[in-house]
Amino acid sequence: MAAPKTLIAPSILAADFARLGEEVRAIEAAGADWVHVDVMDGHFVPNITIGPDVVKALRPHAKIPFDVHLMISPADPYLEAFRAAGADYISVHPEAGPHLNRTLKRIRELGAKAGVVFNPSTDPAVIQWMMDEVDLILVMSINPGFGGQTFMHSQLAKITALRAMIDATGRDIPLEVDGGVTPDTARLCVAAGATALVAGTAVFRGGAANYAANIAALRG
Ligand code: DX5
Ligand code: ZN
Repeated sequence: MAAPKTLIAPSILAADFARLGEEVRAIEAAGADWVHVDVMDGHFVPNITIGPDVVKALRPHAKIPFDVHLMISPADPYLEAFRAAGADYISVHPEAGPHLNRTLKRIRELGAKAGVVFNPSTDPAVIQWMMDEVDLILVMSINPGFGGQTFMHSQLAKITALRAMIDATGRDIPLEVDGGVTPDTARLCVAAGATALVAGTAVFRGGAANYAANIAALRG
C-alpha cells in the first residue's frame, strides 16, 4: 500500500496580508490540505500578527481545516474566540501557561482538535503522560516568531522520538513540522516520521501561479 500523502499546511504569514482572502482561496485551489495561521502576541514571541477577527474573516474563503498555531501567553483566555472564529486545530506551546493538560481539555471541550507545539528546546516528555489527550503534535524546526528562518537539523531526532511515542498509542495523531521547510528539508522530516508540513516561504514564493507546483514539490 502506498504511504499516505503528506499533508501540506501553508503558513499565511508569508502571504500578501493586503489580499489574505484571495491568498487563502489560492492555496486551497493549489492543493493545500490545511491553512496554517500563526498567531503572535509580541510577548511570548517577539512579533505581532493576527487575532481571531482575522481568522473569522478568512474562514468563509476556504473549506479545508484551519490549523491555528498560538504563540501567545496566556492562551487560555483566547481559546473560545479562536474556536468561534472557525479554528479546527488549536495548538499551544507548553510554556504559554501553567496547566497544559487543562488547556488541551478546554480546546476539546470547545469542539476543536488540541495540538501541542514543541520549541527547539522543549522535551517530548512534556506530553508523555497524556498522549490520549493530544490530537496534533507540532515540532518547531526554528525558534518561533518569524518566517524565512533556516531549518534546524537538530530537531530531526525529536521528530523520530515523537513518531515512536505516537506509534505506541496506536492512534493516528498528525506529526507536523514548522519552520524552514523546503523540498529538501521536507524529505528529511518525512523520513523521520512527519506526516504534515507547514511552509510559508516555500509555498508563497513566486506568486499564485506557482502555488500548486510549490506545494507539489514539498510532497516530493
Ligand atoms: C514561525 C511560524 C511559522 C512560519 C514558517 O513562528 O510558526 O509557521 O510561518 O515560515 P517558513 O516556512 O518561511 O519558515
Ligand atoms: Zn506556525
